[in-house]
Amino acid sequence: MGLYKLKKINGGKVLIYNNMKIKVLIDEKKLRRRVRELGQEITRDYKNKNPVLVSVLRGSFIFVADICREIKIPVTFDFMAVSSYGNSKASSGIVRITKDLEFSIENKEVIIIEDIVDSGRTLNYLVKNLQARNPKNIEVCALLDKDVPRKTENKVKYKGFDIPNKFVVGYGLDFEEKYRNFPFIGYIENEQ
Ligand code: IMP
Ligand code: MG
Repeated sequence: MGLYKLKKINGGKVLIYNNMKIKVLIDEKKLRRRVRELGQEITRDYKNKNPVLVSVLRGSFIFVADICREIKIPVTFDFMAVSSYGNSKASSGIVRITKDLEFSIENKEVIIIEDIVDSGRTLNYLVKNLQARNPKNIEVCALLDKDVPRKTENKVKYKGFDIPNKFVVGYGLDFEEKYRNFPFIGYIENEQ
């Protein structure tokens, strides 16, 4: 077994664990800086309002914990869990709510906090589902936006980073429930 080791290879950083190599795409410092900027934008836009942050589990748990501390107005929290991927890297196209909100969002300002938009199916479904509950307003904050062709329009108002079409892990994102605890966003280069 052993520990995660971060190494510099060809100018880039790579995490090595046994025979697995994970390339760092967005390091801790860049994440921190961008999350701070997003928090400042939300603070400005929601001055004198009390939005509810709806965090989509499990992928956004680290992002929401970090961004909420950069938002300098009163917010409340609620959590939803959806499943769309099963246990693989390919989207099944079927979105299912596995945990619903605890509180009503009627007449509330809602900010959905998502980890990543890939095909956009999860987000579309969520927005439609929450819209039906008559909130005052819904906006979306997503840390990552993957460069994939999409049929539907992107609803993300607060976006962290555009990323290439690669399967990424870390900072809350998983592959088969692993690697969520990496402090950076990376992609698996090889797996044995
Ligand atoms: P979409 O419905 O195809 O947009 O997929 C969105 C959901 O799939 C995200 O909320 C993630 O949970 C998961 N997902 C999509 N791409 C990745 C990835 O590259 N790494 C880890 N999870 C991903
Ligand atoms: Mg997710």
